[in-house]
Amino acid sequence: MQTLKLNGHHMPILGLGTWKSAPGEVYTAVKEAIKIGYRHIDCAAIYGNEKEVGKALKECFDEGVVTREELWITSKLWNNMHGEKNVIPALEKTLSDLQLDFLDLYLIHWPVAQKKLFVGASKAPHFLSLEEQPIAGTWKGMEQAVELGLTKCIGVSNFSIKKLKDLVANSSIKPVLNQVELHPYFQQDELVDYCRSNNIHVMAYSPLGSSDRPEGLKAKDEPVLLEDKAINELAKNIKATVAQTIIAWDIHRGISVIPKSVNPGRLKQNFEAADVQLSESDMETIKQVNKNRRYVDGQFWVVPDGPYTIENLWDE
Ligand code: A2P
Repeated sequence: MQTLKLNGHHMPILGLGTWKSAPGEVYTAVKEAIKIGYRHIDCAAIYGNEKEVGKALKECFDEGVVTREELWITSKLWNNMHGEKNVIPALEKTLSDLQLDFLDLYLIHWPVAQKKLFVGASKAPHFLSLEEQPIAGTWKGMEQAVELGLTKCIGVSNFSIKKLKDLVANSSIKPVLNQVELHPYFQQDELVDYCRSNNIHVMAYSPLGSSDRPEGLKAKDEPVLLEDKAINELAKNIKATVAQTIIAWDIHRGISVIPKSVNPGRLKQNFEAADVQLSESDMETIKQVNKNRRYVDGQFWVVPDGPYTIENLWDE
């Protein structure tokens, strides 16, 4: 498996996503994935399943299936724990749930701050603006996490080029990675180019289009990525599945990718995508299907009289 080098640490380019994996399913999925050969698991406190992931990890260690050092574990700071003093307690809770002593990568989940009391936020008073709660303050807490050995690397998620630039200019430890929505319908060329030239890796979430998102996060009549005609044709030609073709496209671009599955057959299929070869002409075919369309558009952070808008969230 190809790895990407983050701060001198090797991260397998393909990992397992756990967003939307229900408690009850994620335990089996993680155990099965590790058995198949996955060595990179993407987690987050807000997914509500870190305890189960932790149980699966512990059993894999105890059973001698894998060692901690062989795994790459990422998790993310939730929005209600922004602020220098909140980061370490939030990370300690995640470590305790995952039954780990350290993470490989800890990310700021969103450039969106909520008051500590509100894990969920749906009204203006639940939020803090980035003027009230600057990212730079939160980042100081993230840097302390590295200094304390609680995580090897730190990064962000859902950050625009503008926010990355501000952060890079105001940090001692630079973000090593930005995890963003990225797939053939939302290829993010500009962001990928900026990150490449600034030594920031990109990780693709919702790489298969996340069609298992809750209905409230779906637009009416949205195009279904896995049904794309051109990618289906290409997949047939190269004798791969559509999901494998998309995962291979990410890997070919040097982008880390974390497809979610709780199905043993699809876990294996997705893992084997690392061996799927694409020609430059295949890459071009996929390039042509771009619709510049987000599935996870951040609209849920936009509430009446609240501090966040689609414009100030994505800086577009
Ligand atoms: P399941 O968990 O039942 O396998 P994303 O990674 O973009 O969030 O997409 C996850 C969705 O894609 C889930 O509904 C998942 O279902 C499905 N999925 C994962 N792998 C495959 C695959 N190889 N083929 C088809 N659907 C897949």
